[in-house]
Amino acid sequence: MSYFKADFIVVGSGIAGLSVALLLAKRGHVIIITKATVDASNTYRAQGGIAAAIGEADSPSLHQMDTIRTGVDLCHPQSVELLVKQAPHAIQQLVEWGTPFDQQDGEWMLGKEGSHSANRILHIAGDATGKGIADALIKQLLQKSQVEFHTHTKVEDLLVEMGVCMGLVATDKKGDRQIYTATQGVVMASGGCGQLYQYTTNDQGAIGDGFAIAHRAGAQLMDMEFIQFHPTAFHIDQNPMFLISEAVRGEGAVLINQHGERIMEHIHPWLDLAPRDVVTRAIYDQQQKGNRVLLDTTPLKDMIERRFPTIYTKVRKHGYDPRFEPIPVTPVAHFIMGGIRTNLSGETSIARLFACGEVACTGVHGANRLASNSLLEGIVFAGQIAKQITQLPPLSVDINQFMLSDSLVDDQEEIDQWRTQLQQLMWQYAGIIRTETGLQNGRQALEDLKPIGKETKNMWITAQIIIESALCRTESRGGHYRSDYPELQATWAKKHIVIGV
Ligand code: SIN
Repeated sequence: MSYFKADFIVVGSGIAGLSVALLLAKRGHVIIITKATVDASNTYRAQGGIAAAIGEADSPSLHQMDTIRTGVDLCHPQSVELLVKQAPHAIQQLVEWGTPFDQQDGEWMLGKEGSHSANRILHIAGDATGKGIADALIKQLLQKSQVEFHTHTKVEDLLVEMGVCMGLVATDKKGDRQIYTATQGVVMASGGCGQLYQYTTNDQGAIGDGFAIAHRAGAQLMDMEFIQFHPTAFHIDQNPMFLISEAVRGEGAVLINQHGERIMEHIHPWLDLAPRDVVTRAIYDQQQKGNRVLLDTTPLKDMIERRFPTIYTKVRKHGYDPRFEPIPVTPVAHFIMGGIRTNLSGETSIARLFACGEVACTGVHGANRLASNSLLEGIVFAGQIAKQITQLPPLSVDINQFMLSDSLVDDQEEIDQWRTQLQQLMWQYAGIIRTETGLQNGRQALEDLKPIGKETKNMWITAQIIIESALCRTESRGGHYRSDYPELQATWAKKHIVIGV
């Protein structure tokens, strides 16, 4: 067993973890723990971009209205105000860190996505925005002598004494257990949980362990029933499934079925750029009728290769030419709106434990996240955390108080089989369309699927929290759709399901 001590411990290497580490590197020794390689994150896969009201016809208040409307009466107004007002500054910060946003004639190129009332999506290399941001931030961090990356290291548990987070226990690649202590605090930026579902865009590591670890330590979780299903992943057999960015629809691609009928007509006035949950259910309905759904990209034939090079290359590799034929798409789990409950400073219900990015529930997304607000949330709240955590008086931690048992090495093959069963049951019972009976069945199936090790236990706990929260909310709102309660209920407006005391 080894012992590591730092001023700040950051868990996760997506935009939230990398940004907070960069901001904190000015103030002390930072250890970034990540369970695979540094670039294995959902940030790295993000295509569409990052939203900021910097266009001439735009304003933070328009961005605020779009975010709140999309969140269906569940966003925290102060969090949203902070997000949209800080957005231009966050973009400036990213530019200073070397992020190469696309420009034309010296002006930022601004794309459009669903539910946005203005063009406000900055992008990099057309459709490789997350990679562009992560590469720039990692490059900066590698130049800082006070920052260490501990890769292939999995967090097991937080060390919490008398309601104060003092560090964590993790296992390295060899399965050896390590103690980490932090004199200032721990920032959980461990990402989401798309991999609890059979079909997802999320990185293999997005298994929802951060939620379970925080919950076990006593932190409150909130809004865990709200899962966003992205309407358009490339419909081929892959895990993760490859995203076809909403920005493609923003440029004019349309959803059709195999008969060439536009599927969003008569469903929503914004047609193919309706909110994601609406588009997802429209596709799901078509599939239930036995139809195939395709994205007709042919109106983009003169620009798709240039504007969306990653998507173009990917679909060409699989035998489709998006300039001349539509491509098959299907909805997949993409993002969780809920998470570890935080205040505006990223503080959780445990002292010195902060949460940032997808694992956090800052209240900015409500019941449904506005496209391209997630990278933005990561960097804006990283700034809030950096301000707050550096104000704390340093803590002296005696590691002798932590007695650890020997680590156990899980059998990977067994875990993979278990994981497949969990993903199938979550897709079937806690997926796009939910019902009381289905969720009850999911609860029972989960009960029968006993966890077989540490990692599966974390997935199991997070899945259970999603199912219990979804059972509790007897209405439909944003990413949570109950066909037995298909309407919004005024009695549920502004009400949050909070797990934990
Ligand atoms: C997309 O490019 O469609 C995804 C962007 C997002 O999820 O915010």
